[in-house]
Amino acid sequence: MTLASITPDEALAQIFFSDEGIDDPTPYYHQLRNDAPVHHSGTGAIFLSRFDDCREVLRDNRFGKSNRGGESMIPSSDPEALAVRQRQMDAAIANKQAASMLFLNPPHHTRQRSLVSRAFTPRRVEQLRGSIRTLAEDVVDAFVADGGGDLLDRIGFTLPVAVIGTMVGVPEPDWPMFRSLISASAAGIEPGATVDDLLASEEAGKEVRAYFDDLVATRRAEPADDLLSDMLAVDDDGDRLSDGEVVAVATLLFAAGFETTTNLIGNGMGALLRNPEEMEKLWADRSLVTSAVDEMLRWDSPVQLDVRSAMEPADLLGEPVDVDQRVVTLLGAANRDPSHFRDPDRFDITRDDGPPMSFASGIHYCLGANLARAEGQEVFGALIDRCASIELDGPLVRRPRMTLRGFEAVPVSVTAR
Ligand code: HEM
Repeated sequence: MTLASITPDEALAQIFFSDEGIDDPTPYYHQLRNDAPVHHSGTGAIFLSRFDDCREVLRDNRFGKSNRGGESMIPSSDPEALAVRQRQMDAAIANKQAASMLFLNPPHHTRQRSLVSRAFTPRRVEQLRGSIRTLAEDVVDAFVADGGGDLLDRIGFTLPVAVIGTMVGVPEPDWPMFRSLISASAAGIEPGATVDDLLASEEAGKEVRAYFDDLVATRRAEPADDLLSDMLAVDDDGDRLSDGEVVAVATLLFAAGFETTTNLIGNGMGALLRNPEEMEKLWADRSLVTSAVDEMLRWDSPVQLDVRSAMEPADLLGEPVDVDQRVVTLLGAANRDPSHFRDPDRFDITRDDGPPMSFASGIHYCLGANLARAEGQEVFGALIDRCASIELDGPLVRRPRMTLRGFEAVPVSVTAR
């Protein structure tokens, strides 16, 4: 199939279900943006691929989060998987399972977010930078001493889970089991999830919730110096979080705190390995690490899409949008929009076209953006300081996921400086 001969719906199916699209969705993103930038898909969902359009919808509070999931969003979805998804959503509502801010609208969203946001301000993150640096140096030193290995696991997972695990208050011996548990649980938010993915996600989600139920009970009995205890103690003019809410927020912070940052580190290293001249430039001038991390976020974003639903009759670029109609903002496509980023397919660590769309926009703008950037900067800074060379030592294989995009592993060999 040549690109020119396919329809926008076929391009979407390629992005979510074909090996080529999962490996590199960029040509399909460009096709969508050129042929149908506001694409009314056959499924009823609207797909946006321009930077400005994505930003506009994400900042427009007529579009919010919805509990509906049983209808297809992307063409060629498996109807059985959609039925399982709807059953899972209905069960969560029937069980009155508390939702985290990620799935809430104002005023519930505002309240929950404001109760934890002070832990993630730029100032607070700068206070943490020294300990993030020491951790980054330690994990990189151990990696270099072994001559390399799977950078995604040994550094990409190990550093962020230590940072967020310590902040939230998850005991260190428990960190390793969460890599596969959170990965399985997060598969449920992929629009292309299969029946097996959804069932595994449900099981993993139950296990994670049970774990945090126990941890909340422990911290209630014996508070510690961590976010979980702070959330339990919060009393904002009589406004408190229920235990269920604390579990939902702690789980979100913990999961969002490493799953995405792991992929920033993996995708970022993948980008450097595929663009050796940029890697050389970075190794020659360490001060480029800040713009390099933003370019890694843009070029191969760890989050490729966001979904909103019209909460009231709305319009999009002059066209009506029905209540409940879904709008998918393709953040990965926005990041390659030539009207916002010069020569967008070029990986350029000195780029200064402004921040990428990778942390979204509006009221759900990533709470951990400062933290994630600091972690990326410290990891790549430590790699520059400690490694004379980094070379690919095996294939770079993509996970078959589009919302949370990453590699299965990043095998490299390294030599010490
Ligand atoms: C490179 C790493 C990261 C990326 C690309 C990323 C991306 C995103 C995006 C796109 C959203 C918006 C979701 C939506 O609009 O539906 C989001 C929300 C969120 N992120 Fe991140 N994230 C990253 C790291 C982190 C970290 C380290 C934390 C740690 C606390 C975190 C916590 C959150 C939370 C709590 C939300 C929900 C905010 C809300 O609903 O108001 N993220 N993130």
